[in-house]
Amino acid sequence: MANIPLDALSLEQKASLLTGGGFWSTTAIPEAGIDAIVLSDGPHGVRRQMHGTDHLGLHHSEPATCFPPAVAVGSSWSEDVAAKIGTALAREARALGVDVLLGPGVNIKRSPLAGRNFEYFSEDPLLSGVLATAYVRALQAGGVGASVKHFAANDQETDRMVVSADIDERTLREIHLSAFERVVTDAGPATVMCSYNKINGVPASEHHRLLTDVLRTEWGYTGAVISDWGAVRSRPAALNAGLDLSMPGPGHYATQALVDAVRAGHVTEATVERAVARVLALVDAAGHDAAAPDLDAHHELARELAAECAVLLKNTRGTLPLERPSSLLVVGEFATTPRYQGGGSSHVNATRVDVPLEFIQAHAAARGAAVTYARGFATDDQGEEAALREAAVRAAAGAGAVVVFAGNPEAEESEGFDRQRLELPASQVRLIREVAAVAARTVVVLANGGVVSLEDWHDDVDAILEGFLLGQGSGAAIADLLFGQANPSGRLAETIPLRLKDTPTYLSFPGEQGHVRYSEGVMVGYRHYETVDAPVRYPFGHGLSYTAYDIAGLRVQVDGPAEASLTVTVRNTGSRAGKYVVQVYVATQAGPVRRPERTLAAFTKIHLEPGQEKEVRLGLDRRAFAYWDVPLSRWVVADGTYVVQVGENASAVLLERSVHLDGDGIAPPLSLQSNVGDWLAHPVAGPRLRARMAPLMAQGGPELDDDSDEMRMVASMPMNQILNLTGGALDGDWLVSLTNTCPSADTTEEEGNVHS
Ligand code: GLC
Repeated sequence: MANIPLDALSLEQKASLLTGGGFWSTTAIPEAGIDAIVLSDGPHGVRRQMHGTDHLGLHHSEPATCFPPAVAVGSSWSEDVAAKIGTALAREARALGVDVLLGPGVNIKRSPLAGRNFEYFSEDPLLSGVLATAYVRALQAGGVGASVKHFAANDQETDRMVVSADIDERTLREIHLSAFERVVTDAGPATVMCSYNKINGVPASEHHRLLTDVLRTEWGYTGAVISDWGAVRSRPAALNAGLDLSMPGPGHYATQALVDAVRAGHVTEATVERAVARVLALVDAAGHDAAAPDLDAHHELARELAAECAVLLKNTRGTLPLERPSSLLVVGEFATTPRYQGGGSSHVNATRVDVPLEFIQAHAAARGAAVTYARGFATDDQGEEAALREAAVRAAAGAGAVVVFAGNPEAEESEGFDRQRLELPASQVRLIREVAAVAARTVVVLANGGVVSLEDWHDDVDAILEGFLLGQGSGAAIADLLFGQANPSGRLAETIPLRLKDTPTYLSFPGEQGHVRYSEGVMVGYRHYETVDAPVRYPFGHGLSYTAYDIAGLRVQVDGPAEASLTVTVRNTGSRAGKYVVQVYVATQAGPVRRPERTLAAFTKIHLEPGQEKEVRLGLDRRAFAYWDVPLSRWVVADGTYVVQVGENASAVLLERSVHLDGDGIAPPLSLQSNVGDWLAHPVAGPRLRARMAPLMAQGGPELDDDSDEMRMVASMPMNQILNLTGGALDGDWLVSLTNTCPSADTTEEEGNVHS
C-alpha cells in the first residue's frame, strides 16, 4: 500500500479506520489504496474462522497445529521452546492469511482458580515476560504481528467485563505491568490488547495513564493499541485515552460517534490522525503470504516441545521411568480422550491429536509388556461411576504398574468462568486412592490448566507427572516421558499449595460487588509463601529429572552501583542426558518498602550430557534489585545488601553470595512533614542533623541511639512537631536549607532502557 497522505482522507474515512471493518479484520478503503488486514486468535494455535465468527471458540475454525499452551511453555522455563512455537505459528498464520496473531497472554496467576490460567505463563512476572518476549520476537520475525494481552490485570474471569481490579501502584508496577513492560521494551509487539476490566475504577479501554502515560511516554511504545473484542464502551473516550483500534467491526456507530466528537470538539482531528497513522503502519507492516507450512513437521515439533514442558513432581521407589513393566494397566478417560488445550477464544481445531493409550501401548509392546485399559471414571455420566471404579480396581490388583490419567474436566476451567475448587473431582480422587491401595506401583498423570490440590491422594501414589495442558502432541510426549525416551525437565511456574485457604488471594478472589482488591500486594505466589514461611505441596521452580545434577562454584561480581553478574557451574552427575534450569533469586531488605523473601532475578535452561559440566554466566540488570518507589514514581535500587541465591526452586536455596550495592543514591525527598527517623536515616541530612543536635543531647536530651525508647518514639514524629521541643536548637529555615542540598530523584540519572 502506498503511503497515503492523511489529508487525502476525509474525516469519515479516517474515523472508519479506527474500528474494525469486520469481526477479524480492519477497515479497507479501496479508493484510497488501503487494504484490510486480518487479526485472529490464538496464542498457541491459529484459530482462523472463514465463516461463522465468534470470540469464544464456539464456531468452526480452520485446522491448525495446537502447540503447548502458555501454562506448559511457562513450565518449560525455556526461551527456546517459546521461540520455536512463535516461529511455527508465524508460518501457519501467514498461510491462513492472518497478519496479527492475538497472543501471548501475560497476565499473572494470582489465584489458582482463575479460569484462563492455562493461557498465561506464570505467577512470576520475570518468567512470564522473558518467555513472552522470546515468543513475540520469533512470531514477528516470521512476518506476523503479536498482540500482547490483556493490558492490564485481567486475572480472573468472574465479571471480567466489568470488575474493577483495585491495585496499589507498587503492586501494579512490580507484578501486573512488569511482564508487559519487558515484552514492549524488548520485543516491540505490533499491538497491545487492552483488557475488558477496569483498573482502579477506570475501564482499561479508557485508561489514559496506562495506555498513554505508561505505555507510550514511559515505555516508548510505538505500535497500535487494540481493544479486546467488545471492550470499548465509548469510542471517543477510548481514542482520547490512547486506544487506536476498536475490535471487532463493523463500526458504523463508532465511526459516526468519532466524527460527531471531532465536530463537537471533544476529540481533536490530530488525535484521530495519530491513531490512523498507527493503524496504517500496522496494515503496511503486514507480511506477504508464505508457503504452506509442513503440518506433519509441526506436529512432531508440538510433541517434542510438549515433552520439555511436563513437570515430574514425585518419583519414589524408582517407579519412573517404566523400564520393564511386567504388565501395565492404564486408567482414565483422558488416556483415550486427552485434555490438551483450554476452552474459549484460544481453542484450536487441531490437525491431529496423539492418544496417550496408543503411544503407551507402542512403548510397552517394544518391551514385551501387556497393556490393559480401564475407563475408571466418567467425566460426564456419574451413573456408572461405581462400576467403572470397581472394574479398574480389580484390574489394578494384578498389574505390574498402573498409570492413572486424571485432571480437570473441560467444564471446570475455561475462558469466561473461574474454577470453584482446587481439588480434582471426587470420583477421580476415590479412584486414585482405591487403585493405589491394591496396585504394585501407581503413577498419576495430570491434565489441568491450573494447578490442582494433590492432598487427598498424594501420599498414596508412587509418582506424579504434571502435564498441565500440552497441546496436540501430548499423548506421545507423555508416553515418551513415562518410558524414559524423554527426560522430564519442566519446572513449576506456579506454586502448588496445600489448601486453597493458604493462597494469598483466598480472601480477595474473585471480589464482590464490582471490585476485586489485590490485597496481597506484591506477595503473589511464592513471594507470599516464602515470606510468611507457609508450607506448600510443591514450590515454584520445583521439578524432578531422571538424572541428577551438581551445582557449585557460585561467584558474584558487582558491575556497577545497581548491576551485578554471576557464574555458576552445573554438572550432570547421572547416567542420562537432561536439561537443567538454573534459577537465580535475589533476597534483600534494602529500601523503604517490604520486600518479598526472594524474587526470581534470572534463569536459563541448559542441556547436559551425562558427566558434562558447564559454566553458566548470567547478568543481573538493575531491575533484578529494584523496587517501585511510589512517592518518586520510578524504579529505585536502594543502597544495601543483596543476597544472590541459586535455588533448586523458590524454597530450596543451594548457593548464595551477599554483595553490597550503592544503588541509585536516591533518598526519599525530605520535608518538615517527614518523620525524624527519615531525616536521621538520610545519607546527607542525617549526619548534619546529628551534629546539630549533639549539643542538645549533651544537655540531657534523648540519646540519639536509634534504639533508645525515647528516640524510637521521636523517630516516628513529623519533624515540624518536635521543632519547639529543641529550644531553638533546630529551626525550620535551617532544615529547609538542608533539604535543598540533598540529592533526590530528579537530580540522579533516570534509568534508560530497563533491560540489558
Ligand atoms: C476474547 C479474549 C481475547 C481474544 C479476543 C478475540 O474475548 O478475551 O483473548 O483474543 O476475545 O477472540
